[in-house]
Amino acid sequence: MSKAFDLRRHLPSTAFVIVALLIIGAFGGIFIYLGVYNIGADAPHSKLVYGTLDEFRERSIATHARDIKVPADLNDPKRIAAGAGLYNEMCTGCHLGPGLEKSELSQGLYPAAPEFAREPGQPAAEQFWTIKHGVKMSAMPAWGKTHDDQLIWDMVAFIGQLPKMTPEQYKAAVASAPESHDEMMEHMPPMAGQMDQHDPASKPHTHAPGHEHSH
Ligand code: HEC
Repeated sequence: MSKAFDLRRHLPSTAFVIVALLIIGAFGGIFIYLGVYNIGADAPHSKLVYGTLDEFRERSIATHARDIKVPADLNDPKRIAAGAGLYNEMCTGCHLGPGLEKSELSQGLYPAAPEFAREPGQPAAEQFWTIKHGVKMSAMPAWGKTHDDQLIWDMVAFIGQLPKMTPEQYKAAVASAPESHDEMMEHMPPMAGQMDQHDPASKPHTHAPGHEHSH
């Protein structure tokens, strides 16, 4: 039988592949070193780059959230009420909420923070993972550094309610939340930075960046 088709004869040699990779790598290094790429948040990605990064993030989160079990009591009204307080205090600056105006912070974000009141979010387990661990190279912080899993599930529970909430219902939910952040954090071991814990005159502290700035 004659050799009709020998694949190897059509492939580039190993040496060629190595040299080609080195050249591509060198160009990559020069591109980075020269700083020609515009890292500014006000210079949008091309559609292709944006789509690739989006898929990169989505696949990473889906894989990492794979084994997370959603608690059976996710829709417990107590959870949702606690989540309302936490969400309103820490998340609205970027993610807004029913009846809330765009903030200076939210308008400058790139990638933009999704508005949970408008778009259906990720599945609950993925939201939990994202809130706990944050997202690199975006403004989404890792709240798990300062909040335990219970509190994070409370927020997931509340986010799930947002799309069907009117501005009035949103206000009512926030009003029904446990009084202060400290109260919600009560079961957590005391942390450095919570100096006001035993001072009855102190106000509940606000964690959301920018909320307390005076212009
Ligand atoms: C400083 C701004 C900022 C704050 C504050 C913030 N986030 Fe985010 N968040 C973002 C950004 C930006 C993204 C989008 C990241 C991306 O697309 O790569 C995001 C993404 C998310 C996602 C994933 C959404 C999806 O469907 O892809 C969840 C869930 C989330 N945030 C929850 C929260 C919660 C809960 C809080 C409050 C505890 C919070 N975030 C506070 C900026 C913020």
